[in-house]
Amino acid sequence: MSIPQSFIQELLARVDVVEVVGRHVQLKKSGANYMGLCPFHGEKSPSFSVSPSKQFFHCFGCGKNGNAIGFLMEHAGMGFVEAVQDLAQGAGLSVPDERASPAERAHAAEQRRQQATLADVLEQAARAWQQRLREAPQAIDYLKGRGVSGQIAKRYGLGYAPEGWHGLASVFAEYDSPLLVEAGLVLVNEEDGRRYDRFRHRVMFPIRNVRGECIAFGGRVLGDDKPKYLNSPETPVFHKGQELYGLYEARTAMRAMGYALVTEGYMDVVALAQRGFANAVATLGTACTAEHVHKLFRFTDAVVFSFDGDAAGRRAARKALAAALPYASDTRSVKFLFLPPEHDPDSFIRAHGHDGFERAVQDALPLSRFLVDAAREDCDLATAEGRSHMLSNARDLWAALPDGVLKRQMLGELAQQGQLPVPDLAALWAQAAAAQAARQPGGEGRVEGRPRRSTSRWNPPAQPPRPQPARRIDHATRLLLSNMRFLEELTHEEQALLRGQPAPHGPLIVWLESRLHEHGPQPWAVLREALAGHECQALAERLMTGSHAQTEGDEAELRWELRDLVNRMLAEAIQHEQNALIALAAHEPEALARYRMLQERRLALQKPRRGAA
Ligand code: UTP
Ligand code: MN
Repeated sequence: MSIPQSFIQELLARVDVVEVVGRHVQLKKSGANYMGLCPFHGEKSPSFSVSPSKQFFHCFGCGKNGNAIGFLMEHAGMGFVEAVQDLAQGAGLSVPDERASPAERAHAAEQRRQQATLADVLEQAARAWQQRLREAPQAIDYLKGRGVSGQIAKRYGLGYAPEGWHGLASVFAEYDSPLLVEAGLVLVNEEDGRRYDRFRHRVMFPIRNVRGECIAFGGRVLGDDKPKYLNSPETPVFHKGQELYGLYEARTAMRAMGYALVTEGYMDVVALAQRGFANAVATLGTACTAEHVHKLFRFTDAVVFSFDGDAAGRRAARKALAAALPYASDTRSVKFLFLPPEHDPDSFIRAHGHDGFERAVQDALPLSRFLVDAAREDCDLATAEGRSHMLSNARDLWAALPDGVLKRQMLGELAQQGQLPVPDLAALWAQAAAAQAARQPGGEGRVEGRPRRSTSRWNPPAQPPRPQPARRIDHATRLLLSNMRFLEELTHEEQALLRGQPAPHGPLIVWLESRLHEHGPQPWAVLREALAGHECQALAERLMTGSHAQTEGDEAELRWELRDLVNRMLAEAIQHEQNALIALAAHEPEALARYRMLQERRLALQKPRRGAA
């Protein structure tokens, strides 16, 4: 969406940064400002200051600073638009979207209203159940028996849903309201249409989103009944594949400790927090998804996955590996902690204490090692067959890694394990990638993956594309800096082409992509601040302030401009590859076929496209 700058100004004038920060950090008045413990780095004495007159926060310890929007983006991991919407909602404003039609706007407003209503209902239930816990000795004993203190129970908002079919009738005046069904709190008997509580006689774990709103529940039986845990169904506010239990509660600790711990169970999170690992979160009875990993990396650069030491745990770890690979860039760390077969994190830390768990975290397997282990599973590396099998297992895992030093190193590591010279493996996999791309018309990687003869000289799988005429890439980059969302509209191949440009353009595009990934589209004013001190700052400043800096105009116009530039670049890269193929085409039917295919493609790209779509 596109939010007018004037609205941002109005919003910032309406909200109070002290109040916004105060919802997340305990602040104390000190002179003209407010002080508190910095939520962005661990500290014992307050050096985090919030100024009501400047409407700014600043930490004298770590240097983090910004306004209310920046705070929500940094601390709650929201994207720019999300933070603006969050603040606007609190201030009773509605965010204008320059691009949306009146119908879309009305729909979006209705959706937000519905979500807010559901969150309200769930919050009421959470509070009621928290209250019931105080009056339920049996539930208190259960939690005490599992080593949970009152303080931790309070922090996680634990509660108790009493026995009986209609406990919530005493909480909600209107038990028949369809809202209770929609919120997943009440079920309707299909035969007689009678309603009853979903959660009965269970210890309740409220699941909160990153804003701290209650969006769902998990409920555990006190004994050995089945099912052991009951969870809220998917609702308009709750999507299992996206949410992590404990993320809201763990944010500050994750920053202070420098990493996040990912577990599989509610009780694991609570038990770890009880013993000093408040940085733990849990998936909700589902496999870890790429969305989970993406979300976590908004808060931290390091993730340690911890798995139960049984077969199911190993399977879950393989899924987490697959989810994490695309995010394992050179600046991030991903590790896997395998507990002994009889343990989960809860039982392990109860048996071995804080320090025992700390040691286990330190010994966790880095992703690079786990990737190799996963590929080697069931392969006998003493035989050529086993080594080939291992490499064939490894190929897709390796290919999922983002380009970078780690990826290059892994190639070396895998080649060594497979007893193959690195250049051979590189050539083999480049060939396989090219064949795959050729099989999928319109698929990615065509420009990069070229068929080659098997030579023993190493041709790097991704050759840097030829430098583009300076003005063309300048302007394309400028268009992306001022309209970041255009980046999403490019194909993978086009994105790869831009990423692969020589420095500083290529690295700036890479930065922009990761920014888009983590925060969604942001206006230049925000990007500019974020670029401060970055190696690409100078380029961005030059592009956005020079005499060509005007990128104003009709959005459709600008989109066409970018499309046109990118098409030209692609056509040139293809021409370049064709030139190389000509020499081979005389002897190799494969090369000739590819040449022809590229020719067709290039001609299509060069056709005038304006008005075609
Ligand atoms: P586990 O069976 O490993 O249980 O389920 P646990 O976390 O060790 O539970 P405790 O220690 O006995 O209390 C792990 C997760 O799988 C989901 C829950 O999210 C649970 O935390 N689960 C498990 C269910 O959703 N339903 C079930 O019946 C069991
Ligand atoms: Mn357990």
